[in-house]
Amino acid sequence: MKIAILSDIHEGLNRKKTGADIVGLLKESLAQHAPDVFIISGDVTAGSEKSLALLKRLQTELPDLQILFVHGNHDLYYEDSTNAYEKLLEFDGNLGNGPVHLNEEWIVIGDGGWYDYTFGIEGFTEQEFSTGRFNDFTWPDKVYAHWPENDVAITDKYLTKLENWLSWHQEKNIILVSHFVPFAHFVQVKNDLSWDFFNAMMGSKEIGGLAEKYAVKKMIFGHIHTRYHEEYRGIDCICNPLGYYPHEWSGNSAREEINSALKIIEI
Ligand SMILES: [Fe+2]
Ligand SMILES: [Fe+2]
Repeated sequence: MKIAILSDIHEGLNRKKTGADIVGLLKESLAQHAPDVFIISGDVTAGSEKSLALLKRLQTELPDLQILFVHGNHDLYYEDSTNAYEKLLEFDGNLGNGPVHLNEEWIVIGDGGWYDYTFGIEGFTEQEFSTGRFNDFTWPDKVYAHWPENDVAITDKYLTKLENWLSWHQEKNIILVSHFVPFAHFVQVKNDLSWDFFNAMMGSKEIGGLAEKYAVKKMIFGHIHTRYHEEYRGIDCICNPLGYYPHEWSGNSAREEINSALKIIEI
């Protein structure tokens, strides 16, 4: 079984900046690689309505492909992020609806998740991280995402949900998917506070804790716009973002970038 993996497509921004039909090119690339399953680990575009429309378009145009999705922070940009989360559940392949059995052996479990500052650098309090402000920069989620509870409480809810699903399916080969980063190992520390402060918003070590506790085979995530595919703590870890044009792209065209970014694995 062939699985394609991509995150952080940021369709709106990349389309506006490149002038290219990002979803059209993605569809082209998927048709070429012909995977059985396509796992999108968050940040399709900004706003739940738009993300939902893009997911539906892709699924309608590629009816034989099983598209599985978890939301990113950008997909939840809305006046009420709980509402945005629920809206996105209208997409059947949203893993927030529950685990998906790929075959007798393999199961995909996931949800977007959130962050609880467990990757926060020393010297700052939870209260300081919760403002999302350092010097003159405000973390965009603080402006565009609106949760009824604080970040730590929101993250906890995701963790509880994921742990339930994981504990019910321990006999299977598990692919765990989240948007946010599971291990500090993948979080870049630059010794520059204007960057490192925001590592608190990269993910949660508790996601990695669950991955280890339930011995998942593969861990797929996104959010950090750096590509990784390596074995870490016995888990095949894949972070495969498209990222932002132009500074995070290396291809000569949107077609080339999307085509080379799409990761294909076999199980
Ligand atoms: Fe992103
Ligand atoms: Fe993100």
